[in-house]
Amino acid sequence: MTFEEWTRAVLARVETALERYLPATAIEPARLHEAMRYAVLGGGKRVRPLLVHAAGELTGARPEALEAASAALEMIHVYSLVHDDMPCMDDDDLRRGKPTVHVQYDEATALLVGDALQSQAFIVLTDETALDTRAQASLVRELAVASGSIGMAGGQAIDLASVGLALTRPQLETMHRMKTGALLRASVRMGALAGTVPDAEVLRALDVYAAAVGLAFQVVDDILDVTTDSATLGKTAGKDAMAGKPTYVSIIGLDASRALAAQLRRDAHDALAPFGERARRLAELADLVVNRVS
Ligand code: IPE
Ligand code: IPE
Ligand code: MG
Ligand code: MG
Ligand code: MG
Repeated sequence: MTFEEWTRAVLARVETALERYLPATAIEPARLHEAMRYAVLGGGKRVRPLLVHAAGELTGARPEALEAASAALEMIHVYSLVHDDMPCMDDDDLRRGKPTVHVQYDEATALLVGDALQSQAFIVLTDETALDTRAQASLVRELAVASGSIGMAGGQAIDLASVGLALTRPQLETMHRMKTGALLRASVRMGALAGTVPDAEVLRALDVYAAAVGLAFQVVDDILDVTTDSATLGKTAGKDAMAGKPTYVSIIGLDASRALAAQLRRDAHDALAPFGERARRLAELADLVVNRVS
């Protein structure tokens, strides 16, 4: 199977799982459920679900388990995007090529969409038809830690507090590892933990891989903000400089940022060496993260 065929098959399963795990619009409150579905369905690159599936293949996880883990991660990710776009944060009106949730609906609805998606993610992870009790507990913990104050939410707090500041490179790296890296790292760990529990050495190697991919993802996001147009990105380009955000591009420049992304891709590949061919999809996903154009 080529990478494109594998990706297409996984994305189709993920879309179906998200559709199934999101409350139907026929259920009250219909407007909130409609807005949740508007935010989640039919858009985005679904990089986190792809990482879940690639890692889960290494540990022989069942498809239902990977679908649940993927849906939960994507719900948390989308909640982070909906809140990130709100006027009190980055104040963006375009996301995934559509008006942002607070523009299409209203601010209170956007706030509640994020809140409800966060809860829904944990409802999904405790679906006993998909995950056994051991996996439920470990995946819930992984996702909670990665999305909370020492993960995504904490990184977002640092991001907002850093506007107009000249962060040092270590401070910038910490912020990126938290706001974006944490959920990507959790994707790899949750995929792996959904199968036969990997031994500590395997998890460590996967962690090194995931840390490199997670940081690379936000370095590339910073690069794309200055090199790519809004139509391609599906979100407003050039926002970081306009908002005075510290980014890899603003702190080390475009060329050094590109070189760093390339180095992180090599680091990710090196970490996978012990797995050989079994880690092929993870290797291909590291390439996708670094070479992507949107
Ligand atoms: C954008 O994430 C926000 C960051 C964490 C950098 P993605 O680039 O994964 O956004 P979608 O899911 O494809 O829309
Ligand atoms: C977003 O970082 C990180 C999270 C949403 C957690 P950005 O603010 O750079 O993401 P975009 O560029 O708006 O997608
Ligand atoms: Mg932001
Ligand atoms: Mg933003
Ligand atoms: Mg960005």
